Amino acid sequence: MTTPRQRHRRGRLAAVGGLAAAALAITLAVPAQAAGSTLQAAAAETNRYFGTAMAAHYLNNSTTMNVVNREFNMITAENEMKMDAMQPNRGQFNWSSGDRIVNWARQNGKQVRGHALAWHSQQPGWMESMSGPSLRTAMLEHVTGVATYYRGKIHSWDVVNEAFADGNSGARRSSNLQGTGNDWIEAAFRAARAADPGAKLCYNDYNTDNWSHAKTQAVYNMVRDFKSRGVPIDCVGFQAHFNSGNPVPSNYHTTLGNFAALGVDVQITELDIQGSGNSQGEQFRGIVQACLSVARCTGITVWGVKDTDSWRASDTPLLFDGNANKKAAYNYTLDALNAGGTTATPGGQAGPQPTQQPTQQPTQQPTANPTTPPPTGGGTCTATYSEGEKWNDRFNGVVTIRANGNISSWTSTVTVRSPQRIIATWNASPTWPSANVMVMRPAGGGALANGQTASFGFTVQHGGNWTWPTVSCSAS
Ligand code: G3I
Repeated sequence: MTTPRQRHRRGRLAAVGGLAAAALAITLAVPAQAAGSTLQAAAAETNRYFGTAMAAHYLNNSTTMNVVNREFNMITAENEMKMDAMQPNRGQFNWSSGDRIVNWARQNGKQVRGHALAWHSQQPGWMESMSGPSLRTAMLEHVTGVATYYRGKIHSWDVVNEAFADGNSGARRSSNLQGTGNDWIEAAFRAARAADPGAKLCYNDYNTDNWSHAKTQAVYNMVRDFKSRGVPIDCVGFQAHFNSGNPVPSNYHTTLGNFAALGVDVQITELDIQGSGNSQGEQFRGIVQACLSVARCTGITVWGVKDTDSWRASDTPLLFDGNANKKAAYNYTLDALNAGGTTATPGGQAGPQPTQQPTQQPTQQPTANPTTPPPTGGGTCTATYSEGEKWNDRFNGVVTIRANGNISSWTSTVTVRSPQRIIATWNASPTWPSANVMVMRPAGGGALANGQTASFGFTVQHGGNWTWPTVSCSAS
């Protein structure tokens, strides 16, 4: 049965070609649910966030801040956490503007995307003139210094920003950082992981939206290489700055899906689209539908609130006009979020790195015959909690699921006590029925034969409460 509102949404969806058609089957499969009346509420229906960039000067404008607070639950500092702002003089960090944004976000229940640890642009003057090994050292010191200072407060870091060239070369962008050696990107990721093991680590770039473009392919090949060699990367950010010269591609869902298939989350990180009226709205809708068609597309961030605050204000590329009124693009975006899609299933990031890397490739092939059908169920399971590493502000926990009899899958519930908050997970897919309850499901096949075990882990920011989480499990 459909409600009038659903029929209305479906009718509008059906009128769209290309992108919309790709997402349509998924959209129609979603059961009826209450419509979210704000962007963040509507995105949360499919376990996604909806964010905005925010400049420090927004804090002086109560009209803008009312919109930020009402509509968004993920905040990116527009300029205040870039290299020049964070370390204006070598060895002297200036946290003041970054802190204003991060503190406002956290005090208002928002999460924060960190932007950006290493970038060829917006470097402080002292760094711009450096090169070679001394620049490499300075870059790594910067990554470590900033990620350590904000440890535990950042949902995802843009560890490296815009490192590939435009055009058809598929080459790295020529820059002082690239001049320190081709491995500078992975060195930055390793430093970021060591400094803040709980944050997701992203590579972020623009003009990587069209699957057939050389730059998109080049970034894809780098991420595939990183995943195959264990370089700690968790996500890829697609900036998504669109205009008439760089329109929304009809294969956007293919791009997002192919990256996600490498085993990373994908996030739309700086969305803005030149235009106005319904035409602009339809393009925003296409982007939302593309994200909602990919389970590992975990959130969307627009690059500012009001058109007049945009880095390219004359393009009127945002969701609110200069008076903070909702534009047509806002309504299209909200409707597309409410129309639903896949439930987002963020991958777990690695958490603290293992202290030792495996020294050699496994010499044995798996002994199980891959054609053996998985156990068909009927058994039960038990969940056991064990303590992991502990830090001043957080601790790791591991849950082991044991099959009693054959099971075809399992679900495990983890409950933490206020003010504890789970800030990272790995080896299973979480959903969040409430702030302190996490339901984990197997990331792949969940079948276990009698006596077999599976385990997953998570990081708890404890806020002074060291009580162990309660865990349980049910089998099917
Ligand atoms: O704050 C100074 C002001 O004191 C001075 O009078 C004025 C004179 O030019 O400049 C002001 O700083 C400007 C700053 O934005 C704050 O408005 C800088 O010149 C200007 O270069 C800077 O632009 C930023 C741009 O990054 C720099 O690369 C934009 O705000 C910011 O939106 C933009 O964001 C980037 C992302 O980080 C990466 N992806 C692309 C995106 C858009 O370019």
